[in-house]
Amino acid sequence: MIVSASSVEEQFRAMFERVCVTGGAGFIGSHLVDGLRRAGATVVVLDDLSTGRRENLAHHADGVDFVEGSIGDATAREDAVAGCDLVMHLASRVSVAESMSEPELYRRVVGTGTREMLESAVAAGARRLVLAGSCSVYGDAPPPISEATTPAPASPYAEAKLVAESHCRAFAEAGRIATICPRFFNVYGPRQRADSPYSGVIAIFAALAARGETPVIFGDGRQTRDFIHVEDVVRGLMLAAMATDTHGGEAVNFGTGRGTDLLELARVLRAGPPRFEAARDGDIRHSVADPGRAARLLGFETEIDLATGLSSIGHRPTS
Ligand code: NAD
Ligand code: UD1
Repeated sequence: MIVSASSVEEQFRAMFERVCVTGGAGFIGSHLVDGLRRAGATVVVLDDLSTGRRENLAHHADGVDFVEGSIGDATAREDAVAGCDLVMHLASRVSVAESMSEPELYRRVVGTGTREMLESAVAAGARRLVLAGSCSVYGDAPPPISEATTPAPASPYAEAKLVAESHCRAFAEAGRIATICPRFFNVYGPRQRADSPYSGVIAIFAALAARGETPVIFGDGRQTRDFIHVEDVVRGLMLAAMATDTHGGEAVNFGTGRGTDLLELARVLRAGPPRFEAARDGDIRHSVADPGRAARLLGFETEIDLATGLSSIGHRPTS
């Protein structure tokens, strides 16, 4: 059975009171904080503001505590998880391209950082940890990609996300804390930053289109991505936290099952005729989810199609 946002929030309220969101000042994290507050949870955000922004949380007058610090800092972690029954672990470096030039940073923040977060969550007595995983772990697998596909990471970012998942599984198997690892496909929506070459492609193309500037496509533009709206991801994350019989560190795809290539994306966003440059190292060619497991295990199906989702970032389709 597929569960609506309002009924998810109602069920969530009955299960969790105080939730730690690492990376909660970021794009996805701040929308998750909004969803948790709608569900009546008290939220503690742990974020070092490396890519996140305080403004993303400024609309919360109360109910959100902010710990500014790194997940690599034991004191900051302890402060953030104290009294929490659930940890939503989203803090991470997020760019495949950046990870090619800074692999050690990714190993430390994404891999080691997740193990340390798990240790602190256990020490604080939290019952569950949900990891923001990534479909990049599949590498160049033929779509649609199910969780049965053997991972083949093609970048330090993807390798580190796979290590993070293995920590989640190990802690769950040792009976220390229940965990689950949603693997997001390409997430987009309001508050996604567009100001760095490492930003998500929809945010970059939409910003360029608004200024009448030319987008750059790395490669031939025929690579595909499965774009999922952030509000769908938030609902999925709350369902993942609540699921009762799936907390052994399972991977669960969060995608729509539909692929869009970059030529089409540039056209839909009216981003002007693109300029082409060489494909980025570590880049995946095709990425489209088989979303069946999320529906079966969590009752999670996406509701927002790309045209509707793009209107949430101010894009108006031509009639
Ligand atoms: P984001 O950059 O907006 O969010 C990441 C947040 O983590 C930021 O607020 C940043 O300041 C914080 N952070 C980074 N390093 C930290 C550290 N050492 N200590 C504390 N905070 C730290 O990016 P996002 O797109 O919102 O990504 C959120 C999560 O979702 C990440 O784990 C990312 O890997 C995962 N993910 C994102 C996508 C996507 O398409 N956006 C897809 C798959 C997975
Ligand atoms: C994105 C996420 C990553 C996540 C993964 C899951 C970001 C920044 N990265 O990586 O965290 O784990 O999805 O699939 O959100 N491109 C251009 N021109 C540009 C920018 C990008 O052609 O100006 C191309 C890239 O080379 C790539 C595609 O667009 O082929 C998507 O790039 P990007 O938005 O960075 O996402 P992923 O690398 O898929």
